[in-house]
Amino acid sequence: MASNIQSLLVLVMVTLATLMTPTHSKLTHNFYKKVCPQALPVIRSVVQQAIIRERRNGASLLRLHFHDCFVNGCDGSVLLDDTPTFTGEKTAFPNLGSLRSFNVVDEIKAAVDKVCKGPVVSCADILAIAARDSIAILGGPQYEVLLGRRDARNASKAAANLNLPPPFFSFSQLISNFKAQGLNLKDLVALSGGHTIGFSRCTSFRNRIYNDTDINKNFATTLQKNCPKIGGDNNLQPLDATPAKVDTTYYKELLYKKGLLHSDQELFKGDGSESDKLVELYSKNTHAFYKDFEASMIKMGNIKPLTGKRGEIRCNCRKVNN
Ligand code: HEM
Repeated sequence: MASNIQSLLVLVMVTLATLMTPTHSKLTHNFYKKVCPQALPVIRSVVQQAIIRERRNGASLLRLHFHDCFVNGCDGSVLLDDTPTFTGEKTAFPNLGSLRSFNVVDEIKAAVDKVCKGPVVSCADILAIAARDSIAILGGPQYEVLLGRRDARNASKAAANLNLPPPFFSFSQLISNFKAQGLNLKDLVALSGGHTIGFSRCTSFRNRIYNDTDINKNFATTLQKNCPKIGGDNNLQPLDATPAKVDTTYYKELLYKKGLLHSDQELFKGDGSESDKLVELYSKNTHAFYKDFEASMIKMGNIKPLTGKRGEIRCNCRKVNN
């Protein structure tokens, strides 16, 4: 009897201890303030140099963070290279021949490890900070990024193929894709504003310019010159008319059926939907766009991070530690 009570007590205590230990700690604003106060300024300066070298690096860094977060959380998994015994996410359909600026991430990692005297800042955090800095450098808002993510020791090509939205998705498919990540309609419309910078390959918008009906005729004809029906798959087209500036041009163009991707135009159909109203608002109110974009970027950056003792701080963003 006594021993029964004893085991019951032990069970109660173990359960309580498990309940009280946080399974994941939260991300914080000042995560590196004490351990490496120079980390953020150094990252900013490498991002700045990379953008001066080539404006598009800013867009490519932003997309890396998005493609990291949508595949099993913001855990740096997108950065892992394939090896003979390991398959990463780089060869997944939405990433192959399309994701870029991995060399800039390498440069940032080298600079930040140097100033911090060792691997202190995770690759997942580097992506979140580099995305934030790119947006600010290209004229957008500067928000306080949350930090403390750790790096995954695995990746999933299957999850990348499944979770990253393709450009031919309909509005309802986009909504459910974002919902699966805990993101709502407003997040979808605000985050699609990421397409205020950067470029797309012809292969991603060919079907739209030849077959879609909700597209401005002159716009489609002009685009067809640089994106033939056959060939020219990698020919580039800016996602909006000002691809090196974070501004509201992307939304303005949607009002005139000039969205480059099918998925872009899905956000504005002119039928007075909630999505239409947000596009209209962002098209004429930079402040409203910035405010919602910031909030949604932070929300996206919070998707399933590895924190506390989970994961690791990689020494090289391209491979897991030995
Ligand atoms: C809503 C669903 C989305 C779809 C279907 C989508 C799809 C695409 C596609 C097809 C491209 C061109 C890729 C290529 O042809 O190489 C692209 C580029 C880009 N996307 Fe998205 N995207 C979405 C959401 C986002 C979000 C949430 C962000 C960031 C907040 C983002 C940021 C970018 C950027 C910056 C580029 C240009 C990258 C560069 O120039 O290197 N996208 N996207």
